Amino acid sequence: MTSDTPQSNGNGMAEVTLVVDGVSKTFETNMQKTVAALAPVSMQINKGEFVVFVGPSGCGKSTMLNLIAGFTQPTTGKILLDGKEVTKPGRDRLMMFQEHGLFPWLNVIDNVCYGLKRKLLHPRARREKARSYLRLMHLEEYEKANIHELSGGMKQRVALARALAPDPRLLLIDEPFSALDTVVRLELYAELQRIHQETHKTIIFVTHEMQEAACLGDRVMMFSGSPGAVVHELKIDLPRPRNFTDPQVQAHAQDLISRLQENRS
Ligand SMILES: Nc1ncnc2c1ncn2[C@@H]1O[C@H](COP(=O)(O)OP(=O)(O)OP(=O)(O)O)[C@@H](O)[C@H]1O
Ligand SMILES: [Mg+2]
Repeated sequence: MTSDTPQSNGNGMAEVTLVVDGVSKTFETNMQKTVAALAPVSMQINKGEFVVFVGPSGCGKSTMLNLIAGFTQPTTGKILLDGKEVTKPGRDRLMMFQEHGLFPWLNVIDNVCYGLKRKLLHPRARREKARSYLRLMHLEEYEKANIHELSGGMKQRVALARALAPDPRLLLIDEPFSALDTVVRLELYAELQRIHQETHKTIIFVTHEMQEAACLGDRVMMFSGSPGAVVHELKIDLPRPRNFTDPQVQAHAQDLISRLQENRS
């Protein structure tokens, strides 16, 4: 389905895919006010890594994702994806938002096909590919369903299938599960981990939930302050698939909560 992306460069060293180098962002608002959203931030993200951004509201997490997506430009610094500077949106980076962003006038499979529109594929091949991603998300029986007939969790799974289908190098996911009930969220944590293991996608995921971060992330980057900066990094080496209620996951979540409280006081 997807290429088996190498996660190491052959020397056992992780291969860096994304470099954020001294990136800051200041917005000019329409009230003649300047808002410093991000202080200079630097980070490197490895191919196949699952990185989670956490931090209080307004500390610049979504701004960082928008910069990586190329929706907005840095005030200082630069962003490189596989050595190439990010200057505009591209098909190699796909963003999935909190609201699923599906088109209500298209059925499930046509929504997934939409993500493949720019790929020069025969319509039948496009449909086959879309179908394979719906299978991956256990939605094969719903391909003809209308979007309004689906539950919130199913809509998020269709949105994930649509984001994955064009085979982006980087998947950017901004708080996708916050409106969902606990049982559906737990299912989606399992799905997302399975998909990450199967596709080796590089994923950056934003959440407010420390348990979610500890369950999903290979590495958690904590943002804080205004302008936002990365104030803490936690590597999570637990085996996968991880269970949300696993005591080790909970211990890492508790560690993150303590750090968050320290950074507030
Ligand atoms: N387009 C914009 N114009 C002006 N200010 C903006 C714009 N986008 C974001 N900001 C400001 O930048 C700061 C960071 O916002 P951002 O949305 O990145 O925070 P966040 O960490 O994602 O917050 P949340 O957790 O609430 O989603 C905030 O002060 C916000 O008001
Ligand atoms: Mg946000």
